Amino acid sequence: MPIGIFDSGLGGLTIYDAIDRRLPHTELIYWGDNKRAPYGTKTSEEIYQFTSRSICELWQRGCQLVVLACNTASAVTLKRLQEEFVPPNRRVLGVFVPTIESITERTWGDNSPPKEVSVQRLALFATPATVASRAFQRELSFRAIGVDVESQACAGLVDAIEDGDLKLAATLAKRHVKSLLGRMSTPDVAVLGCTHYPIVFKAFQEALGPEVRVISQPALVADSLIDYLNRHDWIHLGNKNNSFFTTADPVAVSSKAKLFLQKPLEFQTADWM
Ligand code: DGL
Repeated sequence: MPIGIFDSGLGGLTIYDAIDRRLPHTELIYWGDNKRAPYGTKTSEEIYQFTSRSICELWQRGCQLVVLACNTASAVTLKRLQEEFVPPNRRVLGVFVPTIESITERTWGDNSPPKEVSVQRLALFATPATVASRAFQRELSFRAIGVDVESQACAGLVDAIEDGDLKLAATLAKRHVKSLLGRMSTPDVAVLGCTHYPIVFKAFQEALGPEVRVISQPALVADSLIDYLNRHDWIHLGNKNNSFFTTADPVAVSSKAKLFLQKPLEFQTADWM
């Protein structure tokens, strides 16, 4: 059975790419709700409705396991989805916890009390909804003490990337870094807490300077997924060609996807528009 990968739009392709490199023989189905992106400026209820509907679409296409390759959906909906929506024979995984486990030097399932970690000043760049949810701080506080977190809601950045305007996206990334550095001048670590942002990783790193370790999620999430699959052999993986669905115009989305991943991907129209 295939693994489903969901994002509001194109950002989740950064996660798709990392997973595909590590699991080249596993069938992956990508679902981008490009028509409704960005999610980061929507209400929690809207994000929940759109995310749960997208997950259903992936379940209907045979995915037992769905990766929410979207921090906004993970931050705002994952707890509720797991409590109210996900049946026992399905799994939905988010991108937040693997990121925080990596920062706090923990392995999966380590439920020991929070402790001091090497990171002390952390800059979080994310969408307005992710920042407002404070889910990152909540998950971090379960695992670490003494970490000062400063967040920057990066208004406009997802829209620029969805529009394929990478020049504007790089300018906005630099502007958001400058704004955060005005409040926290020397972060040890910066987390790109939106799966769209690795597309302008260089702009973030340049603006933050070489002393700041910039954490980009794709490789972390792919490694964590492989670890998860090794521990859950009831999930049967498929072995066919990958497919890509979008709720927006598939021709336009395919051409932007090529711009980001430097390889052609052919999106199909999702039944749900
Ligand atoms: N890639 C999504 C994330 O990781 C983007 C959210 C949005 O659509 O605003 O948060």
